[in-house]
Amino acid sequence: MSTTTSPAWEKADPGAHAADPRAMAFADAYPQRPIPTGRPVDDSSICAAPSTGLEALWQAVVPETRTRANDIHLPIVTAYATRLCEAYPQADRELVLVATALHDTGWAHVDESRIISEGFQGDWRKAAIRYEHEAEGCQVARRVLPELGYDAEFVDRVCEIIDGHDTRPVAFSLEDALVRDSDRLWRFDRAGIAMSTTWFGMDPAEYTDRLEREILPELITEAAVRMAEADLARSRALMRTEAIR
Ligand SMILES: [Fe+2]
Ligand SMILES: [Fe+2]
Repeated sequence: MSTTTSPAWEKADPGAHAADPRAMAFADAYPQRPIPTGRPVDDSSICAAPSTGLEALWQAVVPETRTRANDIHLPIVTAYATRLCEAYPQADRELVLVATALHDTGWAHVDESRIISEGFQGDWRKAAIRYEHEAEGCQVARRVLPELGYDAEFVDRVCEIIDGHDTRPVAFSLEDALVRDSDRLWRFDRAGIAMSTTWFGMDPAEYTDRLEREILPELITEAAVRMAEADLARSRALMRTEAIR
C-alpha cells in the first residue's frame, strides 16, 4: 500500500478555451477521438527510435536544456513527436518537431526555486509559474528561430503551440495535438517516470496507476494511446509495481 499523500492533480477543465474558434475548428475537423491513424504505429520502447536532425536548433538552446532536466525531457519528447508525425503524415512535421524541441525552454528563464514549489503541487496546471514558462518559451523561440532561417509566420505558429501547452486544456490544431501528446507520452517511459515521481512526490506504483486513470484519457490521438499503453505495460513490469506497492 502506498503511504504517499497524493497531491492535487486536477483534471484538465476545457473551460473558456473550448469556445475558441481555433479549438472549435479543430474539433470539427477531427470529430472522432482519439483521432484514428491508418498508419502502422511503432509502439516499441522510445530508446529504439531517437529523433534525428535539428542540430543547429539544439545547439542554439543548450543553456535552456540545463534546467529541469530539459536535456533529457526535450529530446525524448521530440523522439515521440517524430513517431507521431509518422502516424499522422498530414501534420506539418517541421512545425511539430520545432515546437516540441522548444516547448519547455522557458523553464530556464523563470525563478528556479518556484519550479517544484509551485509547478508540481496543488493545482499545478494553473500555477503562475506554468504561464510564465510558456511565455518565456515563446521568447526563446522568437530569439533563436529567425537566426536559423525560419520566417515570421512559422515562428508565430510555433509560439501559438508553446503558449498554453500546459495551461490551455484544448488543442488548436493537429500539430498542437501532436506536441501535447508527445509531452504526455514521455511520462510513460521509464525516464519520464523516474523524473516525474520525484517532481510529483509519488511512488512508481501510484504514479503509473494515475497515468492510466488520468493521463491516458487525455491523449488526443489513437497512435499516442497505443504507444502509451505499450509503454505503461513495459514500465509497470520493469518497476515491479504489482509487488512494490
Ligand atoms: Fe511545459
Ligand atoms: Fe514538457
